[in-house]
Amino acid sequence: MTGLLTRLGLRRREVALRRARAGDAEALARLHAQSFRVGWDAAEFERLLANRLSRCLVATDGPSGAPVGFILLSGVAPETEILSVAVASARRGEGIARRLVEAAFGTLAAEGFTTVFLEVEEGNVSALHLYARTGFREIGRRKGYYHKADGEAVAALTMRRDIA
Ligand SMILES: CC(C)(COP(=O)(O)OP(=O)(O)OC[C@H]1O[C@@H](n2cnc3c(N)ncnc32)[C@H](O)[C@@H]1OP(=O)(O)O)[C@@H](O)C(=O)NCCC(=O)NCCS
Repeated sequence: MTGLLTRLGLRRREVALRRARAGDAEALARLHAQSFRVGWDAAEFERLLANRLSRCLVATDGPSGAPVGFILLSGVAPETEILSVAVASARRGEGIARRLVEAAFGTLAAEGFTTVFLEVEEGNVSALHLYARTGFREIGRRKGYYHKADGEAVAALTMRRDIA
């Protein structure tokens, strides 16, 4: 029954995780554009994915399906930074971002990374829940770091998680 519903498109396929490939750049740019006010285009993603300091995991709809989320990090061991994490707006709240963050920790630890940093807008409730749930703690606050569409200045919280 489950298989039939999946084939008819009435049931979502299991989300699978894999490393991003150069061919994902367009899909990642689309996900980014629906998640952030200032989007990164496909050319920017191509550049980021080609950079040897980048690590990017994508969540796909089934093992060969379209990307529905990604996490992108950059850094030199033992420290790295989450540059971006986003999930398709229609797929939020399913635990996809949490799986991406936790899978990234596993890959990073195996490569000798010990510490992950990030910056997040102070009022970004979803992201703050995600990071609290995945073990990050606040280590600093940068006043007026971001600017909203209406020009309002918002602080950035700097967070840290040790993974080894
Ligand atoms: C932030 C974001 C990536 C979270 O993705 P997601 O797949 O919906 O997150 P998850 O389903 O894995 O949720 C992780 C945890 O946060 C909680 N959470 C997520 N969104 C929440 C919300 N709006 N309110 C309350 N809790 C929330 C979940 O309940 C879960 O906690 P739990 O495991 O205790 O239930 C997603 O909302 C997004 O793409 N936002 C736009 C881009 C963005 O802001 N990225 C972060 C920039 S720093």
